[in-house]
Amino acid sequence: NLPEQVTIYEVGARDGLQNEKTAIPVEVKAEFIGRLADAGLTAIEATSFVHPKWVPQLADADELMAELERRPGVNYPVLVPNERGMGRALAAGVGEIAIFASATEAFARKNLNRSMDEQYAMFEPVVSRALAEGMRVRVYLSMAFGDPWEGDVPIPQAVAAGKRLLEMGCYQLSLGDTIGVGTAGHVQELIAAFGDPSALAVHFHDTYGQALANTLAALQAGVTTVDASAGGLGGCPYAKSATGNLATEDLVWMLDGLGIRHGVSLDSLVETSTWMAGHLGRPSPSRVVTARSNS
Ligand code: HMG
Ligand code: MG
Repeated sequence: NLPEQVTIYEVGARDGLQNEKTAIPVEVKAEFIGRLADAGLTAIEATSFVHPKWVPQLADADELMAELERRPGVNYPVLVPNERGMGRALAAGVGEIAIFASATEAFARKNLNRSMDEQYAMFEPVVSRALAEGMRVRVYLSMAFGDPWEGDVPIPQAVAAGKRLLEMGCYQLSLGDTIGVGTAGHVQELIAAFGDPSALAVHFHDTYGQALANTLAALQAGVTTVDASAGGLGGCPYAKSATGNLATEDLVWMLDGLGIRHGVSLDSLVETSTWMAGHLGRPSPSRVVTARSNS
């Protein structure tokens, strides 16, 4: 029981670049996003309207969104943590946002400078405002599987946090394995515990090499939106041991093999990630990009 079609939600320009040491010029970011759209991606997370001191790599969000050429049929969601960020996003003409909550107290403190209760209070007015503006809101639940400070995250704790966020009016909840410690059985149990998988997406970092296996488990459990990052870029500056996301190329290779439609061209993606690797000064960690570059 696998889906016939999967939506790939591309996070390379946001999750991928937020932790990079190399400063990437805004024109390169805009070109990266343009190339991702050319490759056929239709959900491309572009940047974050967070505090520029917290994530200096994305401090150019206002400029990037002003410069970005929007293609019809492509959504360019951005991360927004609070009302200040929402004001900036609206001024930049953003049409869709994502909020990002934590399933644990420790990470809420580290990433948002808030307790878990305070994070909900911070997000509520953001969601209301976005919905009033006619936008869709996605929500991430970070540390949905394990947390570097708290260890294994109990399933009821992740489900309670996730449901509370969906009830705010978010259309989709992306389950974040921020530090890549989850395994396939855990993925299936967590998804089953939500009851209905239709509003769920998955967001796997590949730290322990489980991202692709976990994705297959999620597809079998009824999930049809998968987050991935071109070339396997990514990481969170506020979570030690968070490495790159599931590489979009590796995901595309698996979906092609399974005959699942996704609308993305592998060749253009590989070309884009190779080009981006040149700007970052190191090779892509994606196995598929590596294999294609050597063949
Ligand atoms: P804070 O310091 O508590 O902010 O940070 P505050 O509300 O106390 O405000 C302090 C000052 O910052 C004020 O200025 C605000 O205006 C300003 P002052 O009045 O003192 O002059 N300020 C802002 N300026 C610009 N843009 C803003 C903004 N907000 C406040 N948006 C805050 C709280 C949430 C802002 C901070 O903790 C933050 O920016 N955190 C973001 C961290 C982050 O981006 N992490 C990475 C993304 S999450 C991730 O990667 C995980 C994910 O991929 C899923 C997964 O893998 O699990 C999504
Ligand atoms: Mg992430």
